[in-house]
This record gives sequence, structure tokens and C-alpha cells, in this order.
Amino acid sequence: MEKPRALTGDRPTGKLHLGHYVGSLQNRVLLQDTHDQYVMIADIQGLSANAEDPQKIRDNVLEVALDYLAVGLDPKKTTMFIQSLVPEIPELTMYFLNLVTIARLGQNPTVKTEMKEKGFEASVPAGFYIHPVNQAADILIFKPKVVPVGEDQLPMIEQTNEIVEKFNRLYGSVFEKVSGLISNTPRLPGIDGKAKMSKSLGNAIYLSDSKHDIEKKVMDMYTDPEHIKATDPGHIEGNVVFAYLDIFDTRHEEVTQLKHQYAQGGLGDVMLKKRLVDVLDQLIAPMRERRAEYEKDPKAVFAMLEEGTKQARKIAQKTLSEVRSAIGINYFE
Ligand code: TRP
Repeated sequence: MEKPRALTGDRPTGKLHLGHYVGSLQNRVLLQDTHDQYVMIADIQGLSANAEDPQKIRDNVLEVALDYLAVGLDPKKTTMFIQSLVPEIPELTMYFLNLVTIARLGQNPTVKTEMKEKGFEASVPAGFYIHPVNQAADILIFKPKVVPVGEDQLPMIEQTNEIVEKFNRLYGSVFEKVSGLISNTPRLPGIDGKAKMSKSLGNAIYLSDSKHDIEKKVMDMYTDPEHIKATDPGHIEGNVVFAYLDIFDTRHEEVTQLKHQYAQGGLGDVMLKKRLVDVLDQLIAPMRERRAEYEKDPKAVFAMLEEGTKQARKIAQKTLSEVRSAIGINYFE
């Protein structure tokens, strides 16, 4: 029996961090055993907000591929590939663009938020504005059942499904609706206590961080500004160290006890932070080691991506030919 297909991706705009890990990468490592999994490095989408700095995108294609391999995506189980080398995706994007209004694009919450973050309100590049449609093409060309993503991407899935409906209504049934697969780990706050870990906010712990980096970041972590002396009673709510321990420390009973002690007074931040450093380093150390191995041979990493791209393209070509027939622009057949 054929495995159901899963498709997802990341923009190569920086190295991947713990937020990516709990939000999506962790799921992918599990999914590759039960699904026929495709993971795309979305360089076209990356360029849509970085046209003046293509080198950044180019460099991060390798970094992201290394992160994939480091977390345990296995090229035998997961087809990893580069978006721009599947030209059927931009072609499908063009057909989809006719099914979406400018007004609808302006309502996409993911795009709205990112436009604010990037200061694009007055001068948004057209390629950036339409990237939800490009993303719908990314997804649908592979006809996946599930799309494992962080919760911020749900509006993208919703818009993708609107396109499915409209396309099928106009041209006949080619696509099926897709579901987002959201991780059950709550969103990871940044080390500064801001709601979201993000590279642009400078509050991230990277999957490639050294133990020293992790120590520095954890020691800087936001706790409870009123918890000055160890003997002071402290707050758990909003305390980033506890938020992380809840997610990453598997000794749940001990964490519950620590919370108790902290709330009463008598537990210092440094002791807690040391525990968190150990917990995080236990997770990241094996990734760091695997990464170091693959870093020795970037050519082999690119060869893996080239092979994956070949495989991905076969599927994309098949879907696109169905699309051209459905629209009736398969002139020479
Ligand atoms: N927009 C996604 C992100 O920023 C990356 C992405 C591009 C993606 N194409 C995709 C995710 C297709 C899922 C499916 O994280």
C-alpha cells in the first residue's frame, strides 16, 4: 500500500532554531516513517523579501539542508529539494493567481503580520504579496494529504483550500483539500519572553548553537523581574525558563516540584537555568555532531538536494500536465 504524502518547507533566510524544531521539524522526523514525505527549501519565497540580497538566500539553502540532516531527516525517507529548481511551481502559481483577488491577498493574516514586521506597508514587493498563492502551488503540485507546519501558517492552508475549491469548480476535479498538521507543543517563546522565537527578533536558540551559546542565551533568559534573591517567592507564569522546562524536560514530576519551590521562595534562577542548559544541550548535542559530519562535505549535501529535486520534479510535471489538460491549454496533445 502506498503511504500518504506529506509536503512542507522552509524559507532559507537563516538557520533553523528551537521554535522550528518544536513547531514542525520534530513532527517531520516522525512523519518520514509513516508518510511519503517531501520537504522543500523555498528559495523563491525567501527571495520575495530579499531580492537585494540573493547571497543570503544562497548561503542559507545549505544551512537549512544541514539543519534538516542534523535533526534526523533521512534522504532515504524524506525527499529534500529546492523550490526554484522545480519550474512547474511558478507556472502553476500563474494559473492560481487568476483565481485569487488582490483584496483577498490583503486579508491573509500571515502576510499582514509579516508586512508589519518587515516594514513593507507602503512598498510591498508584488512577489511578496502573492507568496500565499505561490505557497498554494508548492503544496498542491505534490497533492499531499498533510502539511506539517507551525500554527502561523494556518491561514496559508486556508487560502490553499479556497484555491482548490475554485480550481475544481472552474476546471474539474484535479485537487483535493489539504490539512495542516500542527504540533501539539505550545508555541515556543523567545529567550526574551516575547511570544515568538524568531531570527529577526534576535531571541532564538539555534539547532547549531554550541554549548557555550546555549549557556549564554539561557543565562540571559527572561524569568521573573521581581525574583531578585533566591529566597523571594517567584512567578511561574510568563517565566521563560519554566516554559522551556515544560516543553523540553521529560522529568515532569521534578519540574512540578521545582515550580512549587520557586513559587514559595528558596530557589534561585541560576540553578534552574543550569538545569535547562543541560536539558537543551542533551537535545542539541547529537544534532550538532551530525551537522559537523555533513558540514565536511557540502558537495555531498548538494548532490542529495539535486537527487531530491529530480524526484520532486517528476511529481510536479505529472500534476502540471493534469492542470494543463483540465484548463484545456494542452495544445499539442
Ligand atoms: N511559508 C513557510 C514558512 O515561512 C515556508 C513554506 C514555503 C512552506 N512553501 C511551503 C510551508 C509549503 C509548507 C508548505 O515557514
